[in-house]
Amino acid sequence: MSNYSKSWDGGIFKSCDETIQGGKSFSDIVFPGTVIGLGGGLGVGKTTFVKGLLEGLGYIGNVTSPTFTLVNQYNLDSTIYHIDCYRETDLESWMKLGINEYINSGSIVIIEWYGYIESILPSDMIKIDFKMLSQNSRQIVIRK
Ligand SMILES: Nc1ncnc2c1ncn2[C@@H]1O[C@H](COP(=O)(O)OP(=O)(O)OP(=O)(O)O)[C@@H](O)[C@H]1O
Ligand SMILES: [Mg+2]
Repeated sequence: MSNYSKSWDGGIFKSCDETIQGGKSFSDIVFPGTVIGLGGGLGVGKTTFVKGLLEGLGYIGNVTSPTFTLVNQYNLDSTIYHIDCYRETDLESWMKLGINEYINSGSIVIIEWYGYIESILPSDMIKIDFKMLSQNSRQIVIRK
């Protein structure tokens, strides 16, 4: 059963700022325990979207890509984990890094390049696909 009573429809975002605003409005349907997978190629705007999402959740400060750190943690009312599987694609390695603990922590968990670990992610997670339409334009679609 899905807990996601409110909806957010995605759309076309014609600048970085618009994508940040999109992430901010998406934050309305996010609550502790939500797992969000962000898919799409390099530079499509996943991290930019997360900046807006974190802002919408009340975070004030710098949001950096977890490409090298693998997991970034933000402590607000609820803990938020921002994870990136781009450089670590091996599911076994993620198991050793405690991916199940993150997923089951009741925190908000956002995962870029989630496809590599999809088999262990919850079936009621929210999947969002990003597509580059042109240099400054991105299409963002929630997978139903
Ligand atoms: N409409 C847009 N939305 C988001 N980013 C945009 C847009 N137009 C241009 N950009 C640029 O595209 C890049 C998106 O980078 P970002 O780090 O958000 O992508 P990413 O999907 O997280 O990439 P990676 O897979 O490397 O983590 C930035 O340089 C940003 O300025
Ligand atoms: Mg990124």
